[in-house]
Amino acid sequence: MVELTLPKNSRITVGKTWPKPEGARNIKAFKIYRYDPDTAANPRVDTYFIDLDQCGPMILDALIKIKNEIDPTLTFRRSCREGICGSCAMNIDGINTIACTYGIDEVKGEVKIYPLPHMPVIKDLVPDLTHFYAQHASIMPWLETKSNTPEKEWRQSIEDRRKLDGLYECIMCASCSTACPSYWWNGDRYLGPAALLHAHRWIVDSRDEATGERLDQLEDPFKLYRCHTIMNCTKTCPKGLNPAKSIAEIKKKLVERRL
Ligand code: SF4
Ligand code: FES
Repeated sequence: MVELTLPKNSRITVGKTWPKPEGARNIKAFKIYRYDPDTAANPRVDTYFIDLDQCGPMILDALIKIKNEIDPTLTFRRSCREGICGSCAMNIDGINTIACTYGIDEVKGEVKIYPLPHMPVIKDLVPDLTHFYAQHASIMPWLETKSNTPEKEWRQSIEDRRKLDGLYECIMCASCSTACPSYWWNGDRYLGPAALLHAHRWIVDSRDEATGERLDQLEDPFKLYRCHTIMNCTKTCPKGLNPAKSIAEIKKKLVERRL
């Protein structure tokens, strides 16, 4: 029989409410998803209170403060703290984004923080991105050449270099792919917006000599054509990139080469 409700062990329960900081006048509540695979317990949402007068301005500052001063068991990824590494991506106030560039003051009321949606969770705010990275690797994210390697660098005109703008800036945070309903439902076979933006980045690189092979690999009802132009990817990208446009450009190239 079809099961129409969530399995019991995935239901989120009410977790611990930590004490408010004493003497603080500028307090904000953070409700954070917690899941520990080493226990049999269901996921829960813990509530923490932060004195904003004693905290940096970004959501990541608050998470680090909670981990350092309140609850060292809170688990999340971060590295660069400046929007470059992509490791601090999570769902903040219903939006997939990166915690280090998202201001606490951008959230009205209490801040709700969950891991990126529809991904297996390793612990707390850390999703398992193994499949996501494998999909990225599958598009051959490197320069493929057949010509003899030049003595110095592979040269590129300023005009050709400009074609990579809006593509090379992607930090592989996975916010876009995990915001995409097609990726939620068909993520096993649909490559998703992040991998497709990278595929486009190498297709338009004037130095690359495997364009035909790259397009061949994408001409597939699932890998590319599961995109239904829902546009969540472009709306959510914390770097202001447009993966939906990249996907449309690849589709266009596939049509053009048939003409
Ligand atoms: S396109 Fe934007 S949202 Fe998607 S992985 Fe790259 S930086 Fe993140
Ligand atoms: S910590 Fe590197 S992007 Fe946020």
